[in-house]
Amino acid sequence: MCGIFAITSNRRNDIGKILVECAEKLTYRGYDTVGVATVSQDRIHLRKDKGKFDEVAVKLRLNEMRGSKGIAQLRWATFGAPSKLNAQPHLDCDEDLCAAHNGNIVNFLPLREQYTKEGHTVRSMNDGEICVHAVEKYYDQLGDMVEAIRKGCGDLKGDYAFAAMHKDDNKVYAVKMGSSLFVGIGEGETCVSSDLPSILPVTRQILNIHDGELVILSPEKVEIRRISDGHPIERNPYTSDADIRVAQKGGYPHFMLKEIHEQVSTTRTLFSAIREPYITQFIDALIDAKRVFFVACGSSYHATVVGSYYFNDLANIAAIPVIGGQFNSLYGDSVGNGDVVICVSQSGETKDVIDVVHLCKKKNVKILSIVNVLGSTLTHLSDLYLPMGSGFEISVPATKTYTSQVTLFAFLATLAGQKSEAIKPKAADALINDLQTRLPALIEETISTTTLKARTLAPYLSKFSHFYVLGHGLTHGVALEGALKIKEVCYIVADGMYSSEFKHGPLSIVENGYPIIFTIAPDDAEHIVNHLAEVECRGARIIATGDDHPLLRRYVREEDFLVVPKSSQYLSPILQVIPLQLIAYHLATYKNIDPDYPRNISKTLTVR
Ligand code: F6R
Repeated sequence: MCGIFAITSNRRNDIGKILVECAEKLTYRGYDTVGVATVSQDRIHLRKDKGKFDEVAVKLRLNEMRGSKGIAQLRWATFGAPSKLNAQPHLDCDEDLCAAHNGNIVNFLPLREQYTKEGHTVRSMNDGEICVHAVEKYYDQLGDMVEAIRKGCGDLKGDYAFAAMHKDDNKVYAVKMGSSLFVGIGEGETCVSSDLPSILPVTRQILNIHDGELVILSPEKVEIRRISDGHPIERNPYTSDADIRVAQKGGYPHFMLKEIHEQVSTTRTLFSAIREPYITQFIDALIDAKRVFFVACGSSYHATVVGSYYFNDLANIAAIPVIGGQFNSLYGDSVGNGDVVICVSQSGETKDVIDVVHLCKKKNVKILSIVNVLGSTLTHLSDLYLPMGSGFEISVPATKTYTSQVTLFAFLATLAGQKSEAIKPKAADALINDLQTRLPALIEETISTTTLKARTLAPYLSKFSHFYVLGHGLTHGVALEGALKIKEVCYIVADGMYSSEFKHGPLSIVENGYPIIFTIAPDDAEHIVNHLAEVECRGARIIATGDDHPLLRRYVREEDFLVVPKSSQYLSPILQVIPLQLIAYHLATYKNIDPDYPRNISKTLTVR
């Protein structure tokens, strides 16, 4: 949620150009409002408005803004409606300093009242503005930006990061207090951003910033200080080898479609990203645990639902999938020594998950995690983590990272089952071989054989404002994920459910022509036939993903059967999400919705 990018340079005077180029890469973080502030001719110039980045950038000619330092902000609204007034960056009272934030200042209302009483002109209803007044208050007393920011942070409560600048120096200041922040060190310029890909147009020299740190950026150097006592911190930069092309569509009309296709390669790169001895340490912790919890949100949570079936089936381990925001109130009191919590997160920043980590750390619970963004908060806080190796996922709806998570769960469950002798060595070897060598080609085949049917279904499905996606056993999480994708990018209430639950109420919704999508693992076909029959005899139009099966053919018409290539009980659920992703994608574009940036959503949710 929200993205900030700031830069100071001694080799540019047309700072707007690079601000636009870099900030554009943060579009996935927020598209409610956009703003850019630059310093030129001893004053701050501010342009901002409501709307998506590309629209606002053109309308306000952001790339023409002059100066050698500046801050850009893309906002996902929480406090204050999406409007020009609430857009960031914000100016202080006398317009000599400005700042923009990412995250939430939870005591923003009392502070707003306090600062107003103290004589500040607080113009907006956005909590980001409070950061500016907090700094201004102490700057007016101390005349020093570093001390003012340190003291100002003492007033602010919440999880946030902000960048600030004063018109009278050549520096940019930034703090990290719970939201992500990366620094780039270029030739004669330095920059700071909410994510790493947006820094790559400037430099590959990256410095990770930790919570509780303040960074002072000058064109030639970067200083880090501890906010609590101002103590300087030494840390060496590293060279990022990330591929800059990830932020380009590479010929695809949308990042979502590009990333669906990338699943062919990301299920391969996953296995080069994970290493020994960490894999074995992960497995051992799981086998030795008193209780195993999987904690995640959204698509990552759905991957854990599939993962828990793998662990039951393949390793005889009961892993309890729990929604991040629910964990502390459901298990917070009982969780303790001997339990293991596995956090799963693409971004590694999701606040609902990070809150669980903080509680568990106090209770001596081991935190393992599966993360895509390296250097993220979750990687810093975990006792051990495995990377997904999916590369950057730009499109807001998760696709390739979900599939890598599920693939990794199948792999880990097989290894755990092999070690505890819950499955036969031959079966384990065959499954590991399938996951590591056959899966990419099977994904490729699934994309090519199901795309046309997925696209053809769009006009029919677009007529409905609601329908169901049902799964069973291993495909329960697949159904939840397919339904989420359709909700998220098509604005249709697609409800994901366990198929045997459907008769306990929702069946009454079914009437002639009502769509119900089933996702069916090969060994479950005979069992699921009951559920198909129940809705078919009431007129439902059954759409299905699954392996070809004569029983299923009786209930599903040729054009509605998105058949995945023959694989196995454990690989098929990994493949079956793909036709559902494709249905969501084509339905969204049929409805003229940009699936990369669905309204109201942000890819990285650093608020509770
Ligand atoms: C949906 C989607 C979200 C995320 C969720 C968790 O397509 O992307 O539901 O899965 O916000 O995000 P991470 O995995 O970054 O913790």
